[in-house]
Amino acid sequence: MHALITGSSGFVGKWLAAHLREMGDEPVALGAGVDVGDAPAVRSAVNDARPDVIYHLAGFSSVGGSWDDPGEVFRVNALGTLRVLEAAASCKPTPAVLVVSSSEVYGTVAENDLPISEDSPLRPVTPYAASKVAAEFLGLQAFLGRGVPVMIVRAFNHVGPGQSRGFVVSALASRVIEAQVAHTKVIRVGNLSARRDFTDVRDVVRAYRMLMTGGVPGEVYNVCSGRDVAISSILRRLCEIAGIDLEVEVDPQLARPVDIPVLRGDGSRLASATGWVPEISLDDTLSAVLGDWREKLGA
Ligand code: GDD
Repeated sequence: MHALITGSSGFVGKWLAAHLREMGDEPVALGAGVDVGDAPAVRSAVNDARPDVIYHLAGFSSVGGSWDDPGEVFRVNALGTLRVLEAAASCKPTPAVLVVSSSEVYGTVAENDLPISEDSPLRPVTPYAASKVAAEFLGLQAFLGRGVPVMIVRAFNHVGPGQSRGFVVSALASRVIEAQVAHTKVIRVGNLSARRDFTDVRDVVRAYRMLMTGGVPGEVYNVCSGRDVAISSILRRLCEIAGIDLEVEVDPQLARPVDIPVLRGDGSRLASATGWVPEISLDDTLSAVLGDWREKLGA
C-alpha cells in the first residue's frame, strides 16, 4: 500500500513510518518544508505521491501551549486538515484519509459518565480541543459531501521513546534521569492529580493501520487503553523503576489555565472493527522512556 504521512518527522510519524515499512507498505513523507496550510503545495505533493492512504498526523499537539496562540493552532490543525482533505479529493482514485483528533474534544466528563464512548458530547475546553473538533467536522464534511473515505480517530494520551519533554511522561522521565545524574533530590512537577488514559505509541500506530484497512469511512474511533492512571502514580512508578527517591516540588509554571481532571476511553468500537488490543504494558513503556532519556543524557 502506498501511504503518505503528514507529520512524518514527528514523534508518532516516525513510529508509524517504521511500522508501515515493517508491514510491507511504502510510506512516503509529505515533502519536507511543505506547510499543511499551503493549499497549492499540499495539493501538488499529494497528487505527485498518488497514495492509497493518507495518515494526517501533522498538527499542533500541545494542549497547554495552545492557549498562547489559538489562531495559529486553528490554522495548523483545522485549516491544515482542510488542505489535506481538499488535496485528497482532487486525486483520482481518491485516497482514504485518517484524521487524527483527540480525547481532548470530550472536555471535562463526570466520573459517572466514564468510560467515554464516541457518542459522548463534544465539549472542548481548550483552543487545542476546539481546533480538533473543527478538524473532525471538516473530515466528516469531506466524507459526506465529497465522498472522501475519511476515518477519524480520537487518540487518548500516547507515550513512548522519542516523545518530547513537552508531554508529561517524557517530561517526568527526563527529570528523573537528570536528578540521578546530578545527585539531586527534588523534582519539579505540574498537576499530579490529573488522570489520563495512556497507550504506548507503538500500539497506537498499529491501531491506525488496522483502521485504514478495517475501519468504516465516516466513522469515529477512540484509541485508548480503557484505564486511567493518575500522573502521581506515573511519577511514583518512574522513580521505582529508576531506583530513586525524589521530593516533589510543584512548579506553578507547569500549571494550565484549565486542566481536564480525568480522561478514560471506551475502546470497544475500535476493538470490534479491527480486533486491536494494546499489547505493551505501561511498565514496559515507562522503562523504555527512561532508557531513552538515559541514552540521550549520557547517563
Ligand atoms: N506536559 C506536562 N509537563 N504535563 C504535566 C506535567 C509536566 O511537567 N506535570 C503534570 N502534568 C499534567 C498536565 O497538567 C496534564 O493534566 C497531564 O499531565 C497530561 O499532560 P500532557 O502529557 O501534556 O498531555 P495532555 O493530556 O495535555 O495532551 C496529550 O494527550 C492528548 C490526548 O489526550 C497530547 O498528546 C495531545 O496532543 C493529545 O491530543
